[in-house]
Amino acid sequence: MGLMYSMTDIAHHPNVLAAILGIVTCVSPVASVQWTDYIFTSGAFYASLLSSIILYRLSPFHPLAKVPGPVMHKVSKLWSVWICWQGRQHIEFKAMHDKYGPVVRTGPNEISVIDPSAVSDVLGAGGLPKGKWYLARQDERAPSNLLTLTGGKHANRRRVWNRGFNPDAVEEYDEILAKSATQLVDGIEARSEEQGEVDLTTWFNYFSYDFMAEFVFGGGSDMLEQGKDKKGILELLEHHMITGALVAHIPWFFYLGNRIPGATRSTLKMRAHAMEWVQDRLAKGAKVKDLWYHLTDEAALEKEEQPQMKEVVADALMAIVAGADTTSVALTNFFYLILKNPEHYQRLREEVDTVYADADATDVSRQSGLKYLSACLDESLRLLPPGLTGGPRQVPQGGRMIAGYFLPEGTQVYLPPYVMHRNPECFYPRTNDFVPSRWLSPEDSDSDSENPLSGRRHNRKAFLSFSFGPANCVGKKLARREMLMVISLMIQRFDFNFAKGFDSERWPETMKDFFATSRGPLKVVARTRV
Ligand code: HEM
Repeated sequence: MGLMYSMTDIAHHPNVLAAILGIVTCVSPVASVQWTDYIFTSGAFYASLLSSIILYRLSPFHPLAKVPGPVMHKVSKLWSVWICWQGRQHIEFKAMHDKYGPVVRTGPNEISVIDPSAVSDVLGAGGLPKGKWYLARQDERAPSNLLTLTGGKHANRRRVWNRGFNPDAVEEYDEILAKSATQLVDGIEARSEEQGEVDLTTWFNYFSYDFMAEFVFGGGSDMLEQGKDKKGILELLEHHMITGALVAHIPWFFYLGNRIPGATRSTLKMRAHAMEWVQDRLAKGAKVKDLWYHLTDEAALEKEEQPQMKEVVADALMAIVAGADTTSVALTNFFYLILKNPEHYQRLREEVDTVYADADATDVSRQSGLKYLSACLDESLRLLPPGLTGGPRQVPQGGRMIAGYFLPEGTQVYLPPYVMHRNPECFYPRTNDFVPSRWLSPEDSDSDSENPLSGRRHNRKAFLSFSFGPANCVGKKLARREMLMVISLMIQRFDFNFAKGFDSERWPETMKDFFATSRGPLKVVARTRV
């Protein structure tokens, strides 16, 4: 499928068709007829069109009629837009699954599934491709990036990407990672001395964008050094993230929206920043083999054709967003959960002090000893995955059987990580609590009451924080290395507490699900350990 929606696609969509026909009805210049007649005729037209759409969507003739779900969601996607606008999609999906069970109709032509046996059928090799939800997020002036490609084209591009994340390549990034991580703790220390408290949400944003810019383009962002986001990139990205999340629910609006002056302002500004980074990278080169090196195939390993510059720019820009937001959110969530559960913080601190007794925590060769920290990280990614609901896959031609239902072509299928991870069929007991030991083997776990063997359920296939299958997170290993380094360095350097007046009970309510997650300030006091 091409990047743009063709006029035929648009005309097949009832909402757009209604709008176009409505406009035509209103502006037809038949002089002898009164305007009131026009208003009456178009009103009657709209009312009958709308009621027939609603009746069909609620009727037993609709192909998804057997899938249970709330009436508002069955009737229109506009309801999802409203929920998304409020950033409450993950909460709404959880409530729907609690009420209707493991398979829910969440839109007229959309379902959500939290049955782990559907994971391979949806995300595995030969599963469902990405569809219009992803296309709507794609800047139509730029070529497709890895996130929106499907099938053979995706596999070809992914081969090039994979080279940037093989063990040798990842080792090469350790030096720049250590530099950014050290700048982060130095920055937190200085800010704490000045102001007594520090907002981890902001500082993790600075860190992750600086590191990603360095990793992708060999530099270009200096928020840590400046202690602020001088160019306003974070605000730009937040705007981009929210508009992207909204239009993805109503792809027909994407065609119109792209033509409204100003609607794509944040995308254009973001592209302009990326072009500055590209110019710099081309002019100065890089000290290490960065992602740009691999994506442009500077080593000339591609036998058939070299990657096109326009495609590399699109991928590089996507990499910054995909890698920075997610890691920053994961780090913030981790520190929230560990400070909320001080008994685990204590054990974590002892482990970090033992593993790094005589070394700086930037030494990644010791990360294999961080078993408890790793378990805490997995548990925080389970309870609060950075992609709370994620994007849906689309049923291809011919339809598919998924989770016991036959789904016709075009059906959107969600596997929402936030809800899947809180399904007691997948993780039990204490499904909604922070219990890191559920990730440890019985030998490493010393707390049987927390983690009883009988009746325990721990379905790793249901753990979707990094997705699953051929389009899973390509940066997963780098992200883990990065997070383990930052967390151990911070624990080694500081003692943390929530800041005075910080409402730790209500902080999760500040989380907004816009595909990526936005969240409120996480205010802490960081005392340097002696
Ligand atoms: C805690 C950190 C991270 C989390 C939780 C995470 C999560 C995810 C998830 C859930 C997906 C699938 C998205 C979808 O199907 O819609 C994904 C894809 C992707 N991630 Fe990550 N990610 C993280 C860090 C990174 C980093 C550091 C990079 C580095 C560039 C990265 C690059 C990508 C790319 C390029 C894709 C698209 C892969 C494809 O379509 O083949 N991610 N990530």
